[in-house]
Amino acid sequence: MADNIKSEIEKRRTFAIISHPDAGKTTLTEKFLLYGGAINTAGSVKGKANSKYAVSDWMEIEKERGISVTSSVMQFNYDGFCINILDTPGHQDFSEDTYRTLMAADSAVMVIDASKGVEAQTIKLFKVCVMRHIPIFTFINKMDRDAKDSFELLDDIETVLGIRTCPINWPIGSGKEFKGIFDRKAKTVRTFEAVSTGGAKSAAETDYAIDDPELRKIVPDNLYDQLVDEIELLDGASDELDMEKVSKGELSPVFFGSALNTFGIEIFLKYFLEMTSSPLPRMSDEGLIDPVSEPFSAFVFKIQANMNKAHRDRIAFMRICSGKFNADKDVYHVQSGRKLKLSQPQQIMAQDRQVIQEAYAGDVIGVFDPGIFSIGDTITMPGHKYEYEGIPTFAPEHFCRVIQLNSMKRKQFVKGITQIAQEGAIQIFQEFSAGMSEIIVGVVGVLQFDVLKYRLENEYGCEIRLEALPYEYIRWVGDPSTDVTKLKRMNNVKAVKDMKGNPLLLFVNEWMIRMVLEDNEGLELLEFKKN
Ligand code: G4P
Repeated sequence: MADNIKSEIEKRRTFAIISHPDAGKTTLTEKFLLYGGAINTAGSVKGKANSKYAVSDWMEIEKERGISVTSSVMQFNYDGFCINILDTPGHQDFSEDTYRTLMAADSAVMVIDASKGVEAQTIKLFKVCVMRHIPIFTFINKMDRDAKDSFELLDDIETVLGIRTCPINWPIGSGKEFKGIFDRKAKTVRTFEAVSTGGAKSAAETDYAIDDPELRKIVPDNLYDQLVDEIELLDGASDELDMEKVSKGELSPVFFGSALNTFGIEIFLKYFLEMTSSPLPRMSDEGLIDPVSEPFSAFVFKIQANMNKAHRDRIAFMRICSGKFNADKDVYHVQSGRKLKLSQPQQIMAQDRQVIQEAYAGDVIGVFDPGIFSIGDTITMPGHKYEYEGIPTFAPEHFCRVIQLNSMKRKQFVKGITQIAQEGAIQIFQEFSAGMSEIIVGVVGVLQFDVLKYRLENEYGCEIRLEALPYEYIRWVGDPSTDVTKLKRMNNVKAVKDMKGNPLLLFVNEWMIRMVLEDNEGLELLEFKKN
C-alpha cells in the first residue's frame, strides 16, 4: 500500500464522547474543535434553537424542537493528527443511533460532571464500550464548580462502572478554590485562572515544578499540603498506567479539568493522542482485516432518512475500516452482491458538509442511499466478499402499542412501519397470538415515537395513535426455541416476538428480570441481540 495511505491512516484517531446530558460533552467537543482551529467561535457546535449554527437541521422535527435527531461526525487536524469525533446525541434525541455510533468509534471519552459523578446515561453508553473492549478515557469536568472528593469520584467510577482507574493528573481544590492540576508524569502543576472568554488557548495556563517557590504563592498552604499527601496516596495505592489494560478497556486514564474555561484540554489531548492508536484491524467473517494493507472497506452504522423532504432521500453513514476511499472507483456492496459507485460522498468538517473525493480508514462518510443499504452492511472493493460483524440490536426502553386510525390504509401502514423499523429508528414487536393488527413499538429514546408518528403521517399518509405501555425493560430469550408459555413467574411479564420470530420478554422493572431468571433455571436473557 502506498506510503501516503499508510501515513494518512496512522494519523487518524476516531473516538466518541459519551456522557450524561449536561456533563459538558458539547462544550468539550467545541474546545477540541477550537484547538484544532476547525472553528473560531465558541457556541458554534450547540444544536440549540437559534444557535448560530446547528450541524444537522434536516428534519422538520429537529427544526421545531431545535435539537439534532441525528448524530454527526466532526473532523479536524491537531498536532499532526487527523481527529474524527463521533457525536453521540444525548438529550431528548438519545436513540439507538447513539449506541450504534459507538460501534464506529475506536475509543471513547467519558465526560463526568465532578459534582455529580457517574450518571444514568453514562452507564448505558459505557456498557456498549465495554462490550466492544475499546479504550475509555475519563474527563472529570466542571472542576471550577464545587466538586465531590476526587477519590470518591474515582471510587464511584470503579464501583458503578466496574472499570479500574488511573489518574493521569490530579486536581488542586475545586470550585472557587480550584487552583490547577498536577501532571503526575511531568511532575508539574498547571495553574488555573478563570477566564471568561470563549476562545481557544486563552485560559491562563502556566506550568510550575511541584517544588517551585512561585507555586507556593499561588496555591495556599492547606491545598498544597493536601496535594502532597494525595500524590503520595495515589503513588502508593492507585493502579499503574498499564497500556495493555487501557487498550482493552479495563483501565481508564482519568483527567480533570474545566471544559468551559478551556482548562485541562490541551493536556488531555496530548496524553489522549499519545495513548490511543490509529484504526486497528477489524474482525470479518474471513478474519481480521488490516486497515493499512487491505484496500477500501467500510460498514454502515447509521441510516438517516428523509434529510431533504423534497427528495425523501436517505444518507447511509459508513465507517471506513481499511484502505483509501476514492469516489471515482466502483465499490462492492456485499449484502446485495452489487457493484456500484457511492454517490455524493460527504464528510462533515466541523461546521461544513463537504462532498469529498477521498477518505481513509478511520474516517466516516455519508453517502446517498437509493434504498439498498441496511445497518451493518459491508462495502468492499470488487473481488472482496467478506462481511464485517453485524451491529447488535440494543434493548429499547420505551414501549407503545400502535393503533392505526384509518383501517383503509392498512398496506401503507405496514409498509411504513416496516421500513422505518428496517432503517433502525424503531423496533417492532408482536404479541405471540396477534398478527400485524397488534403492533408494539419499542424505542431507545422517546423522541423516536414522535419521529414515527410524523413520518407515518407525512410520508405514508397514515394517522396513528400511540398508547404507552408500562414496560421499561426488554430482554431477548437466549435460546430462541424456548417455549415462553412454559416459563414460570410470568405475571406482569409480557412475551413478544420480533419480526424474525425471536422471543422476547417485557418487564416493568429490573427486579422482575431477576425473579424470572431465578425461577427458570437455565434461562438466558440478553440485553443486546447480535445480528
Ligand atoms: P452536554 O453537551 O453534555 O449536554 O453539556 P454542555 O456542554 O451543553 O454543558 C452543559 C452546561 O454545563 C452548559 O451550561 C455549559 O456551559 C456548562 N459547562 C460545561 N462545562 C463546564 C465547566 O467546565 N464548568 C462550568 N461551570 N460549567 C460548564 P448551560 O447554562 O446549560 O448552557 P449555556 O447556556 O451556557 O450554553
